[in-house]
Amino acid sequence: MSKNRVTRRQFLNYTLTGVGGFMAAGMLMPMVRFAIDPVLQTKADGDFILTSQKIADITEEPVNVSFTFEQVDAWYKSDVTDAAWVYKSGDEIVALSPVCKHLGCTVNWASDSAHPDQFYCACHAGRYEKNGQNVAGTPPLGPLDQYEVAEKDGFLMLGKKISNTFS
Ligand code: FES
Repeated sequence: MSKNRVTRRQFLNYTLTGVGGFMAAGMLMPMVRFAIDPVLQTKADGDFILTSQKIADITEEPVNVSFTFEQVDAWYKSDVTDAAWVYKSGDEIVALSPVCKHLGCTVNWASDSAHPDQFYCACHAGRYEKNGQNVAGTPPLGPLDQYEVAEKDGFLMLGKKISNTFS
């Protein structure tokens, strides 16, 4: 008889440990999968959002273009509406974020009659040049962000926000 014979007690221990481990893994896997699900989702940060703005209608006068996209925040999905100030500068299309770089109010084009060629933030009288550069001496300490732009079938598409490259 071999010296390495498995006793009945050892056999039961191995079998119960194996079956118990298998059952525990079967119960834990769905929970772990649920807990880390947002991490496993593919991100759409680089995606462009199609707007209803026709490229041909964009002029040198900034217009407010609003757009809606689905925002995923962990397990919560919601439709978010955002906007951009869009105009043509030569052949280039410029899309600026309307979010003031002071405290986050919304800036408007030419709403300050004293400065009809600038963006104006009414919260604290912040001003920006047409290219988004903040006007020295007003509260904002940085230029407006810009959106990446693209075209699809004659319509404007907006990508992610990046730091202003026009100012
Ligand atoms: S939030 Fe725009 S100037 Fe203060």
